[in-house]
Amino acid sequence: METIISPSLLSADFMHLDREIEMINESDADWIHMDVMDGVFVPNISFGFPVMNAVGKVCKKPMDVHFMIVHPENYIQQTADSGAAIMSVHSEACLHLHRTIQEIHKAGMKAGVTLNPSTPVAMLEDVICDIDIVQLMSVNPGFGGQSFIEESIRKVARLRELIARTGSKALIQVDGGVQAETAPRLVNAGVNVLVSGSYIFKSPDPLKTISELKRLRPSVAL
Ligand code: DX5
Ligand code: ZN
Repeated sequence: METIISPSLLSADFMHLDREIEMINESDADWIHMDVMDGVFVPNISFGFPVMNAVGKVCKKPMDVHFMIVHPENYIQQTADSGAAIMSVHSEACLHLHRTIQEIHKAGMKAGVTLNPSTPVAMLEDVICDIDIVQLMSVNPGFGGQSFIEESIRKVARLRELIARTGSKALIQVDGGVQAETAPRLVNAGVNVLVSGSYIFKSPDPLKTISELKRLRPSVAL
């Protein structure tokens, strides 16, 4: 299976978002990853619907929106209206995760569930067959440019085991510290979707960096 690349807009140049979206439109990226933060669930604030709506109008790649907010269930319809294809919520932020997944589907989007580094994969045991994407945080959420948490590689293996055992069709997505050294190891561990922010946007040639990530394939049979 092809590796799906989702560049994280958080590390883009916000003074020139039009150029950055143009770059993503022309690139080999599959999706565009957008990080919404509220300063409550995570200790940082990013952007919200005005930016998502504007990007949704010009970006040709499906919007993969990662909500790091409390009560993401209150914003499902607004997210669908912005043109988002994927809405990912944190399991730690959802008291009624099963209902939230159902509502995301009802609004016509793919449902992603994100786990913080300290949240075990076992939390998803009873919903894994209802989820389109499981996003593992390989840094503590809130900031770009942090160091990759090594345990994430073993966590991918545990998630693969859960997916295989239950027959779930969920894709495995990893977010945080994805760069030249960690990306091939993640793909070898069975990751389907790589989110990458600072490594792509701070590189001298983001188009080339995206193409290189896109070419990664598992070097061992999975
Ligand atoms: C962090 C965000 C990430 C962030 C990743 O909370 O969810 O999407 O942009 O940034 P890098 O790739 O720089 O670690
Ligand atoms: Zn993210």
